[in-house]
Amino acid sequence: MSGASGSNLAYDAHLHPVSHPMVLAAEGPRTMVRGDGCYLYDSDGNRFFDAIAGLASVPIGYSNRHVAEAAIGQMMALPYYHSFFHMGNLPSQRLAAKLREITPDRIEQFFFTSSGSEAVESAVKIAWQYWRAKGERGKRAIISRDHGYHGNTIFATMLTGIEHYQDGFGIDAATERRIAAPYRLALARNEDPERFGERAALWLEARINELGAGTVAAFIGEPIQGTGGGITPPESYWPRIREICDRHDVLLIADEVMTGFGRLGAWFGQDSFAFEADMMTMSKGLTSSYLPLAAVGMSGEIASTLRNSGEFFVHGFTASAHPTCAAVALANIDVLEREALVERVRDDIGPYFRKGLASLIEPLEAVAEIRGRGLMLAVELDTARYQASASLDPHDLAAPIVADMLQRGFILRNNGATLMLSPPFIMTHEQADDLVAALADAITNFDRMSLA
Ligand SMILES: Cc1ncc(COP(=O)(O)O)c(C=O)c1O
Repeated sequence: MSGASGSNLAYDAHLHPVSHPMVLAAEGPRTMVRGDGCYLYDSDGNRFFDAIAGLASVPIGYSNRHVAEAAIGQMMALPYYHSFFHMGNLPSQRLAAKLREITPDRIEQFFFTSSGSEAVESAVKIAWQYWRAKGERGKRAIISRDHGYHGNTIFATMLTGIEHYQDGFGIDAATERRIAAPYRLALARNEDPERFGERAALWLEARINELGAGTVAAFIGEPIQGTGGGITPPESYWPRIREICDRHDVLLIADEVMTGFGRLGAWFGQDSFAFEADMMTMSKGLTSSYLPLAAVGMSGEIASTLRNSGEFFVHGFTASAHPTCAAVALANIDVLEREALVERVRDDIGPYFRKGLASLIEPLEAVAEIRGRGLMLAVELDTARYQASASLDPHDLAAPIVADMLQRGFILRNNGATLMLSPPFIMTHEQADDLVAALADAITNFDRMSLA
């Protein structure tokens, strides 16, 4: 299974997202040709267990017939129509009603886009229009966090707190409106977690005071920071953030693109962390990524302010509220509900997998911490242990483990020293055991070879 899977197609016709063009030119892409449940098959016939479910985005697993049939049915009835100029379609109306039922009570109205990045951009525009309607034209700043990830369109890249995504394009990191993440391992490893959570939330209040509440439109954050390394705040963090936003008249946007639709063992990260945002973004688990769809949910207060302002809402995309994507989302949510997959993450496979990691991975000297909730877990290596290993890239410490796991038939990803695990919700106990055993072996080998 060495090297990338060969295909005779002209792969140099395609610039891949978040890839190294030189590596692609030299090796070509690994071409996936089939997915089935938790497994992917490449064009060389290799089988992989997808331990990160696409990009933490395929909770129901690959090639679910119920979802595929919903797409065909809708394509034969009305494959596409736009929703501009007061037009509409039935699947997106049904989907909005369904989302109102399953999202937190405060969230009442939905705007649809095709990607999480567009949902973030749309949430920002809605926040701006909301404050203008309230006569608060000065409220423009959006505060975000270090290690946050909000997408790759230009404004979303600016909100992202990972410089790697900004550097190549000269996009301003705008650190003056960013705050530190609740990253206890890095910032206050020995502090009591709940005290640290309170203290980390107060960084938001300090930043609002510094900028002036009259200039701040919103704070955006992921309930657990996914791409940035599975950074998981203590219980005290989000309720305190909610209170600070209320006190200073700042909208709270929960970016639930990754945490939504059961990944944390509750329908949404807000349910898991006991808070309600004014706006939320969602995608990924909305359709299990079978088709591109995302949404912004907003509170009744925001929806009614926009409605009563008398202003036009001059924002939208050709594919907003796409009927086939909406039909796929409805079928996907139906699978999550009928197969009780969110409950499965909460009560069965989530705790089972976590227990396996706790018994075989956590005791390894190479490992500093395992964190996360449900099936959104991260294993951070003890970086100090490898400081003297000249052969390792300190900025990409866990990469050799990801490469080794690929050879063993498991797809993982890493962020620096952190390995990310976000398997499909349908993972069996046996598959979880195999994954944990392979990972324990790969980390042990990495440790032995790095310190040799
Ligand atoms: C929290 C969060 N927000 C936004 C995005 C961007 O979504 P998309 O890649 O669909 O534009 C992502 C993608 O990983 C995400 O995890």
